[in-house]
Amino acid sequence: MTFIRTLFLHILVVAVACVCISLLINNYAQFSQYFNYRIKAHIGANHLFSETELQRYNGQFNEELYLVILGHVYDVSKGAKHYGPGEAYHMFVGHDASRAFITGEFEQYNDSLSDVSVLTDDELQQLFTWKEFYDKTYPYLGKIRGRYFDDGGRETAYLQDIRARATKSVQATRDGPKYPSCNVEWKAQHGTRVWCTNRSGTGRDRQWVGRPRKVLPDAGSDEKRAVQFCACLPEDVTDALYVTFPNCDEHTYSCMIPDQ
Ligand code: HEM
Repeated sequence: MTFIRTLFLHILVVAVACVCISLLINNYAQFSQYFNYRIKAHIGANHLFSETELQRYNGQFNEELYLVILGHVYDVSKGAKHYGPGEAYHMFVGHDASRAFITGEFEQYNDSLSDVSVLTDDELQQLFTWKEFYDKTYPYLGKIRGRYFDDGGRETAYLQDIRARATKSVQATRDGPKYPSCNVEWKAQHGTRVWCTNRSGTGRDRQWVGRPRKVLPDAGSDEKRAVQFCACLPEDVTDALYVTFPNCDEHTYSCMIPDQ
């Protein structure tokens, strides 16, 4: 009697398992769609992604494809023919490879590709034009923590400087800034650094190096200064609209800028 009951239970378990497996196989598309919907609902708009979280959205682990430009995340799943695995622009999904939009380094991703500080002001302007393309074409999902946004989702000094340089390029054809811009870099361990050299801002040699100064946004009617973030002032020049950065010695060539 016990044997018959055990046999019956085994047959029942196997039958239920077979039904479940066949349901899963036949309705895989719906299950996967539902699962992706749940992930999206969880993420919502204006989510603050970590790098590790974003890596899941490169088309290998689920069908969602998330592209990053200048720290902003877009859902480019509807452009799978460009961004899906094996496609021409697959390198742009799952991480921030902003620089490659200008340099065309699509072959192999490396984490330096989120650094755009080596680009000229004109190239930065082109990069913002790419961002406008994504704003118009694909759903915006949020930001990624790191170079462009801090842990609270606020813009870093690095992003402010990049935007200021891009805006400057639009105006540069009309009139150049009063003083050359600083060099800028961002590193995960230290944050944003600005510094002056005798080529910074212009790419051409000059006689003097200058000291990094924060350009005050309240620059009155002078548009040229209003769009600049950091300028290199000659050491003997004092100008009320150009101030030393907090915790930075006024005579030093290089300053660390804490993220707000
Ligand atoms: C730095 C260089 C380049 C970058 C960053 C770039 C980037 C891109 C991106 C991101 C897309 C997809 C746009 C979307 O989501 O709809 C795209 C599409 C396209 N690209 Fe490029 N591209 C570059 C160079 C080129 C070159 C040199 C060619 C031609 C020889 C080219 C031909 C195309 C074509 C034909 C499409 C549209 C394909 C289609 O709609 O089926 N691209 N490009």
